[in-house]
Amino acid sequence: MTAERRTVVRATVNGRAVHAEVPVRRTLADFLRDDLGLTGTHLGCEHGVCGACSVLVDGRSVRACLLFAVQVDGHEVTTVEGLGDHGTTARLRDAFGRHHALQCGFCTAGLLVTATEMLDDPDIPKPLTGEAVREILSGNLCRCTGYQGIVRAVLDAGS
Ligand code: FES
Ligand code: FES
Repeated sequence: MTAERRTVVRATVNGRAVHAEVPVRRTLADFLRDDLGLTGTHLGCEHGVCGACSVLVDGRSVRACLLFAVQVDGHEVTTVEGLGDHGTTARLRDAFGRHHALQCGFCTAGLLVTATEMLDDPDIPKPLTGEAVREILSGNLCRCTGYQGIVRAVLDAGS
């Protein structure tokens, strides 16, 4: 049996410098959850469909289950834990509560990542329309809440 090849990852995760040796095929999601203990990044489908594993890499949302950890070498990663307790994400959290935009919460971390990117992206025209929010959130699946409350919450936080 051949030994598993390993490589070094140097990245900034939630503002903290990280230097780790990982198997070359370790996914970013497993690296964040199992090596760094950032379990707010959830794993649903593990093949790029549900969006539960969404994180920001250099400010852009990506599927952490579809990237290898080594692909963020030299980059900046923000997970739901690193979105902060003020500004856009705080407004979204409040609005999710007010509009009953979550039940079990499994999808919520990914939705907060995608919605924070949406509201903060100067290239996305504001004010947002319901149609635009639906389109951008179409890559984040929720199996229990239904999307009306989620869309209302994002529109409210962005107003
Ligand atoms: S777990 Fe990554 S997209 Fe579903
Ligand atoms: S709140 Fe349960 S999956 Fe969305």
